[in-house]
Formats: sequence, C-alpha cells, structure tokens
Amino acid sequence: MGPSEEAIAELLHRAEAARRRAYAPYSNYPVGAALLARSGGVYEGANVENAAYPTTMCAERSALFRAVSDGERSFDAIAVVSENGAAPCGACRQALSEFGNNLLVIIGDAKGKVHHRIPLKELIPHAFGPQDLVLP
Ligand code: THU
Repeated sequence: MGPSEEAIAELLHRAEAARRRAYAPYSNYPVGAALLARSGGVYEGANVENAAYPTTMCAERSALFRAVSDGERSFDAIAVVSENGAAPCGACRQALSEFGNNLLVIIGDAKGKVHHRIPLKELIPHAFGPQDLVLP
C-alpha cells in the first residue's frame, strides 16, 4: 500500500518549505524535495548551486544523501516542488533507483498543483542497478 493522501500532502508541504531554502542564485530556479523513508522519517533537500556550475547539487539528491547518511536505506515516496512542476533530472532518477524502483514520485509546482504521481520505475525504465554488478 502506498502513502496516504495525508502523507502525500505533508510531503508536498515539506518539499515546498525546502524549496524556500534553496541556494540557487545562478539559475533562480529553486527546487525542494521531501523524501519519506519506510521508518516514517522525512528528509528535506534543496538544490545547492555553486559558482563553479557543475558542482551544483539537485534537491532530490540532497534529500537522498541526507537520508542515507542518517542510516535510511528504504523509501516509499518523494515529493519534488519547483516553480513549474518539472520532473527530476536523469542523474537524480538514477541515484534514487539505487534504493528501489517502487518509489512513488510526486511532482508539484509552486502554486500547489500536482503535475504527476508516478512510480520511479516509469521515470527510469531498465535502470542500471546493483543487480547488474552481480557477475557470474
Ligand atoms: N535541479 C534540481 O534541483 N532538481 C532537478 O531534478 C532538476 C534541476 C536544479 C539544479 C539547478 O540548481 C537548477 O535546478 C537548474 O537546473
């Protein structure tokens, strides 16, 4: 069973709160994420840009790395909020898929509109994962 409607609304709220703390002076495109762990813990992340542009980190991976650093390994859902409700980038899809492709991805915009509720496996089909490194 997936997260309740109440849990999803809370995740979107937490993602929007994180978006307000983004450090995005170069793109002016703040993004916030809130990742729900199986434990019930919620981990927020925002994009953190850098004057050396490629050093920038996305909101989704900020949230993921924070959660994994805290010992979490299993996740149920992630909410991502941007101005226009854009979908997570390829690098974030790959990073998230390491921990399971059943993750529910909820994509919202700054006005509170939900654009997509989609399992990660549909965002990154045929993902390369830990199983591919199990060699004979
Ligand atoms: N960004 C994210 O935080 N998540 C995504 O999935 C797409 C892009 C950030 C990176 C950069 O700081 C800004 O959005 C513009 O690309």
